[in-house]
Amino acid sequence: MKATEMGWRDDVERVLIDEKIIEKRLDAMAVEIDQQFPAGPILAIVLLKGAFVFAADLLRRIPRPLEIECLNVSSYHGGTESSGSVKFLDHVLPEVRGRHVLLLDDILDTGRTLKAVADRMFEEGCAAVHTGVLLAKDKKRAEQVQADYVGFEIGDEFVVGYGLDYKGRYRNLPFVGVLKPVD
Ligand code: IMP
Ligand code: MG
Repeated sequence: MKATEMGWRDDVERVLIDEKIIEKRLDAMAVEIDQQFPAGPILAIVLLKGAFVFAADLLRRIPRPLEIECLNVSSYHGGTESSGSVKFLDHVLPEVRGRHVLLLDDILDTGRTLKAVADRMFEEGCAAVHTGVLLAKDKKRAEQVQADYVGFEIGDEFVVGYGLDYKGRYRNLPFVGVLKPVD
């Protein structure tokens, strides 16, 4: 093994949710979404960058026509605490007028991101927003939002992997894990 590969996993203190368990849960979530979503093509909106791994794996399991758009938003600015403000980084937003949107994010933490994006989708005239997250932290949220589809409830701790980053790294870990404390 190369030294760089060693360092990559060595930073992880523990695996919280391993790959096989994620895959099994995504199978079930895809069925749930397919059964509960109104008839017609789904417009999935994937929040970048964190949700790209989750969305790619989930959406390929949904056996019906869907369109996929991405939205680049930022709320952390590189650290482990939410900054409190959600920035829309795209110049042009996806066309959502009259559509039922499936909004996908990696994790529901304070709730500010999902709230800000859902509000914006409604301002743009969408018919409904259904929300899906891989992870939801069990905590009091700054915004009253719930996700319609949740992969896993986790404790209130900072996690990485499966799309989630710390300072831009660890998104490609195939599991969700907790980093060793940096002292
Ligand atoms: P919220 O707006 O506070 O709900 O946070 C949502 C965004 O914060 C997510 O899209 C993530 O990018 C980021 N985030 C929240 N918790 C974590 C975490 O534990 N690890 C990595 N990113 C996180
Ligand atoms: Mg992030």
